[in-house]
Amino acid sequence: MNPPLSAIGQQMSHLSGVRAIMKDIIETLHAHKGKELINLSAGNPLIVPEVEQLWRDCTQELLASSEYGQVVCRYGTSQGYEPLIEAIVADFNRRYDLNLTEKNVLITPGSQTLYFYAANGYAGLTESGEMKQVVLPLSPEYTGYGGISLHPDMVTAYRPRLDIDVARHRFKYRPDFEQLKIDQSTGCVIFSRPCNPTGNVLTDLEVRQIADQALPYGVPVFVDAAYGPPFPSLNFTELNPIFGSNLVHCLSLSKAGLPGERVGVAIGDASLLRVLEAFQTNACIHASRYGQAIAALAIANGALAQVSTEVIRPFYQAKFTILESTLAEYLSPELPWFLHQGEGGIFAWLWLQDLPISDWELYQRLKQVGVIVVPGSSFFPGLREDWPHKQECIRISLTAGDTEIATGMKRLAQTIIQVYQEASRPMIATLKY
Ligand SMILES: Cc1ncc(COP(=O)(O)O)c(C=O)c1O
Repeated sequence: MNPPLSAIGQQMSHLSGVRAIMKDIIETLHAHKGKELINLSAGNPLIVPEVEQLWRDCTQELLASSEYGQVVCRYGTSQGYEPLIEAIVADFNRRYDLNLTEKNVLITPGSQTLYFYAANGYAGLTESGEMKQVVLPLSPEYTGYGGISLHPDMVTAYRPRLDIDVARHRFKYRPDFEQLKIDQSTGCVIFSRPCNPTGNVLTDLEVRQIADQALPYGVPVFVDAAYGPPFPSLNFTELNPIFGSNLVHCLSLSKAGLPGERVGVAIGDASLLRVLEAFQTNACIHASRYGQAIAALAIANGALAQVSTEVIRPFYQAKFTILESTLAEYLSPELPWFLHQGEGGIFAWLWLQDLPISDWELYQRLKQVGVIVVPGSSFFPGLREDWPHKQECIRISLTAGDTEIATGMKRLAQTIIQVYQEASRPMIATLKY
């Protein structure tokens, strides 16, 4: 059967960004079955024993409690499981000195859903026929934002400024406030902090500046803290969550060990959340309650925040250190390679200035030496302008064993050196930014 699709059906039946190349990665993994292949493409977190144990303990506590039937044998409210909402309100009020009430929290089935509700609730076609945009202030960004809109071309991203430290082979993206346009044509703003794919953390000042620019137009700003504190606390630099009337702070429990349970959290102004909640009632009634119930236990007793800072953060930070030291050891200092500052998350982002081949070709070359990364051009949703930089980057996942990361980076370095040598490109960086 091949029934004709609606315009929305057409739009939603396409895979966007990194999901589109996953097919190629899965086929490669199958073709190499039994052979050694270092997969540094995955966004799936590793199973960390202490984290798995925490969720096992919470499950046992839930199973033993009289609440079990209420959790799994009954529907709940669309807003979320009450004890989880109460635990988040208490935790955030104490931790960040806030005055949140239960009305300021909404639970969704994973945070991806939350951005889907936000994009289509606040942006898209208005009753007066205007197409309001989802603005991503800083590109590259989370590839998943490319697939959340029900209409084509309603995500607009902005090219960043680059702060480059040539001597250290490091760089950092900064929002370009001279270009960034947030006005009556904007429906909502979204950015990840820490950022997937780059590991960038926007400063407090930058977040406030974006929120201030959006406020006069009544535009909500969704801060995607899927890697932020207090859980999973995958920030390697200081990061203060910022709250404000048009700021919605969004959490995910996926990188805190519960990706299979799909728990996302929005914290913000009650009237902003009501729209998302109604969207949720229509779409799926509510998030699954089992994940919410074990999360409520782990947040209320402080164990989740503790395991985040004591186990999850050092686990991935140590992997980033292995990655950066191996690259420094094997990549020639004369080559124009620049690793993004590793400020958080579970990925590293490498920019190869004036790369003689495209990021896709580099991905293919790396497969030949048994290493899989993700070509960087998948991570520029909404950035329509031509920019060679889009084809000069790769994302490297930290979700592999330490030895695999070190071996993978050694092979990556050797391949990159070969690629530049084959093209006889000058090795000295000629900075154009
Ligand atoms: C930045 C970012 N936001 C949101 C998500 C979606 O996470 P989930 O729907 O599992 O909460 C991801 C997943 O990898 C992500 O990297």
